[in-house]
Amino acid sequence: MLKARQAIQSLKEYHPPLGDRSGLRLDFNENTVGASPRVLRRLQQLTLEDLARYPEREPVEALVAASLGMQPAEVLLTNGVDEAIHLLCETYLEPADEAVIVVPTFAMYEISAAATGAHVVRVPAREDFSFPLEAVLAAITPQTRLIAIANPNNPTGTIVDAEGLLQIANAAPQAAVLLDEAYYEFCGQTLLLSIRNHANVFVARTFSKAYGMAGLRVGALAGPVAQMRMVRRVASPYNVNVAALVALPEALQDKEYVCQYVGQVQRGRVLLHQEFQSRGTTYCPSQANFVLAQIGSRHGEFVPAMKQRGILVRDRSSDPGCDGWVRITLGSEAHTEKLLATLRQVLAELKIAPEAVA
Ligand SMILES: Cc1ncc(COP(=O)(O)O)c(C=O)c1O
Repeated sequence: MLKARQAIQSLKEYHPPLGDRSGLRLDFNENTVGASPRVLRRLQQLTLEDLARYPEREPVEALVAASLGMQPAEVLLTNGVDEAIHLLCETYLEPADEAVIVVPTFAMYEISAAATGAHVVRVPAREDFSFPLEAVLAAITPQTRLIAIANPNNPTGTIVDAEGLLQIANAAPQAAVLLDEAYYEFCGQTLLLSIRNHANVFVARTFSKAYGMAGLRVGALAGPVAQMRMVRRVASPYNVNVAALVALPEALQDKEYVCQYVGQVQRGRVLLHQEFQSRGTTYCPSQANFVLAQIGSRHGEFVPAMKQRGILVRDRSSDPGCDGWVRITLGSEAHTEKLLATLRQVLAELKIAPEAVA
């Protein structure tokens, strides 16, 4: 009988709550209004001939590299950051190796690492969800071959300072250190240039969030040239599809569009922080396009009540240390207004009082 590898049999199934997502989708940290209109115009010009050809990644890869201030050899376009994570795990992890992650965090690190048969070492964030630098340093062993850190982190929105991250990279020269900057545009802190003087550091970026192209599946992985040569050996030459490749140059040129969207998200973030602050609701101050808030024991009623009023939010209660916490994505100004009005209505309707929340 055909059997999947043991590592795969041991993986838990991961089912993000897709399905009926009608309403305002503040549950997956997507852009709520979509990409630059230039992207759609270019996609509408795709021809049957374009679709019949295998996609040519390199010219667009060079454009993306230039936009990041990198050389083409330092950058690989990927099928979203999800694929970048997968490729790093395939390139560096052997079955007995260790992959260090700080939980709660983005689910794909654990899935891709565990799928190789490596042992996943989960370091819990501090109680206030801040980054446990000392604990991460202490978790590094000679078997550590991958350390994945989302910065800002999902679902908490917290960031780690550059000094701490480089301390980790220096402490584990035998490990690939992935700094996942999927939410970079919303915070502005990057360690991209550190790939030039740290032989084990990789930085990932995505076009799924600020750029509004999650459906096209495209991201970029940057790393030291010698290491990227290894990673490229694992990647399919056709990993990024033609629609994503024609869309990217348009998206990159319309910087204005992304900037104005990011501005709206950042202003909305201040408003949502203030809202939680004034209600006495515990929340995690965020540097990303979402805020994690402690709704408390009524979270199971809160999420469906929001949905009933047309807004999807994400219950993170099953994440480590997150019982009662709900993550809410920020979008355009109009969407934040709708969110705030609905949030007030639902909390009042359910009589979720601030003191019951903490
Ligand atoms: C930290 C982090 N990295 C990566 C991703 C996935 O990015 P992509 O759509 O480029 O695969 C997400 C999506 O939620 C994320 O939160």
